[in-house]
Order: sequence, then C-alpha cells, then structure tokens
Amino acid sequence: MLNVALPKGRLGETVYDMFERAGFECPSIKENGRKLIFENPEKGVRYFWVKPSDVSIYVERGAADIGVAGKDILLEYEPNVYELLDLGVGKCRMAVAGPKDFFDDGEKTLRVATKFTNIASGYYSRLGRDIDIIKLNGSIELAPILGLSDVIVDIVETGTTLRENDLEVKETILPISARLIANKAAFRFKGEMIEKTVRGLEREAGKQ
Ligand code: PRP
Repeated sequence: MLNVALPKGRLGETVYDMFERAGFECPSIKENGRKLIFENPEKGVRYFWVKPSDVSIYVERGAADIGVAGKDILLEYEPNVYELLDLGVGKCRMAVAGPKDFFDDGEKTLRVATKFTNIASGYYSRLGRDIDIIKLNGSIELAPILGLSDVIVDIVETGTTLRENDLEVKETILPISARLIANKAAFRFKGEMIEKTVRGLEREAGKQ
C-alpha cells in the first residue's frame, strides 16, 4: 500500500484530482464528511488529509510514503525528504510587502513580521540587511497596519489580501508551487510504485 499525505483544502482537492486522472483513484474520498483516511485496496493506495504545513513531517518520518507540500514549507522547514516533481499547481510567490508609503532607507533595523522566519532571515542575510523578525502564525497583513512591523514576508497569490488592506508588494523573493515529496526509505522500498506515480503525475503536471 502506498501511503499518500495530501494537504487538506482547495489545493489538496486539485492535487487529488491529478492523482485520480493519473490512475490512482479512490472514490470514497469524494464523500463529504470528517473522515481523514481513505483507501482503495485495488489500486494499492491510501490517502490522508493532513494540515498543509504538516505534510512534510508525515513524509520525513515515514508515516506517509509520499505527499504534496508547497515549496514554501520545504524551504522553511528543510525536511529530509526527496523532492520528486513540481506539480505546477498551487502557484503563488513569497514576497516582501508593506504599506504603500513605506520605503526602506536601510538606516534602522527593519522589523519583519512573518510565519516564514527561516526564509525571511535567509533573504535579508543575503542582502546584508539587519532585521528584527517577529514570528506570527496568521493574518500577517495586520502587523504593518498596526505598527507591529515595517514589512511582512508572506505568500501572495491573487494579491487581494494586500490590496484590501492597503499594502503592496515591495520585492518578490521567489515563486512557489506544490511539490511531490517522498520519504527516503520508502523511495527505495516502494520505488516501483512511487516511480509509477511520478510518471502518471508528470503527465498531469504537464497539462497545468
Ligand atoms: C495566505 C497568505 C495571505 C493570503 C494571500 O493566507 O498568508 O494572507 O493567503 O492570498 P491572496 O494574495 O490571494 O489574497 P492563508 O489563507 O493561508 O491564511 P493565514 O492568514 O493563516 O496565513
């Protein structure tokens, strides 16, 4: 049985549809309810709905053989997994954003609010810019509005959240998309099945 951790939510549903079209369907997953595990013994596949930021933990520790995680999570937590494929979905970017009238003149320590402390520290350290990181867990856009920070480092997808809060992108750090990842031991022991999945998903990713 191939154990697959999918990110719970809209991205996970898109990704499951890709698995289905690639030939790894599990019809019971479409039943609405609170169940978190679904399997199709005929196809030898078992899916779990996992909080998106936890997928790499399940895969790294082998509770799932493969999974789908955003590149943001992989860069932030650096899990010890194989990254097998860019699925071409869940596209967005990691960016620095701030109030329209804010300009970083480089004189004072820059206060940066973010969920992604590792990505933000790495980015500013490459620039040689001195920063004070403020770790938040959500609604990051509030921080510069309330004067908690000067800027934020966060994900921008449509840009609506920034626009509706009078903020703007100052710099793009990197593009993000969903990646297929694998547990390193499972990649050896279940190699054939994982390879088959990668080939099927590769075709689907090419259509995105
Ligand atoms: C993410 C991100 C932004 C928003 C960007 O938040 O943190 O707030 O999406 O999307 P947009 O550019 O399409 O508006 P998420 O919904 O993951 O919730 P969060 O507040 O917990 O970070």
